[in-house]
Amino acid sequence: FWHVCSAFVTAYLLGSIPSAIWYGEAYFGIDVRKFGSGNAGATNTFRVLGKRAGTIVLLIDVLKGWTATMLANILFFLEVIDGPQILTFKLLLGVMAVLGHLYPVFTRFKGGKGVATSLGMVLAIDPQVASVCIAIFVLVLLASNYVSLSSIVAAFAFPMMLVLGVFGQASTLLIVFGFLLFAIVVLTHQKNIVRLFNGSESRVYLWRRRNK
Ligand code: G3P
Repeated sequence: FWHVCSAFVTAYLLGSIPSAIWYGEAYFGIDVRKFGSGNAGATNTFRVLGKRAGTIVLLIDVLKGWTATMLANILFFLEVIDGPQILTFKLLLGVMAVLGHLYPVFTRFKGGKGVATSLGMVLAIDPQVASVCIAIFVLVLLASNYVSLSSIVAAFAFPMMLVLGVFGQASTLLIVFGFLLFAIVVLTHQKNIVRLFNGSESRVYLWRRRNK
């Protein structure tokens, strides 16, 4: 019981690490929440502090979700849970990390939008489907330059690929969690969705033309 409890607390604390805020403050003396979209995430770090900082925050946030989800494997090796329970625990631990990212204990429970941390979770559970989600994200981003739209489309593609059985039959539990992640992404992007509809969402350019 204590092993399971500590895994859940660790997953939440990992997700809670406010990488965008801490990195911005440590290296630039800037709180990213005061600029751009005001979000404590990789996109806003990219927007406010540049490509390098955004990429580092993105990697840390993905790693948070991946590591928390992988704690299920440690529980398995410690024989706390058995084989058929691994997926359930991966999903629960991953969601704990996403909730930690959304409501971090270190920053008065005001965090980011959960996309990168969810990606880490999905990478730990199904790398194949996760890779397609990344490809879809990049394609939508290149076509639209809207990170929020790309995040929403990729988050929808995840459960849809599971439902359609693109890479074989997926368990109902995984599909339910896939839709849960999608719902979380929609809820955290409410303001972005309004801005997308009224045309005021800010665009992010991966590559800017030099001769302009
Ligand atoms: O992952 C967050 C992204 O989808 C939107 O971020 O800063 O544009 O609100 P932002």
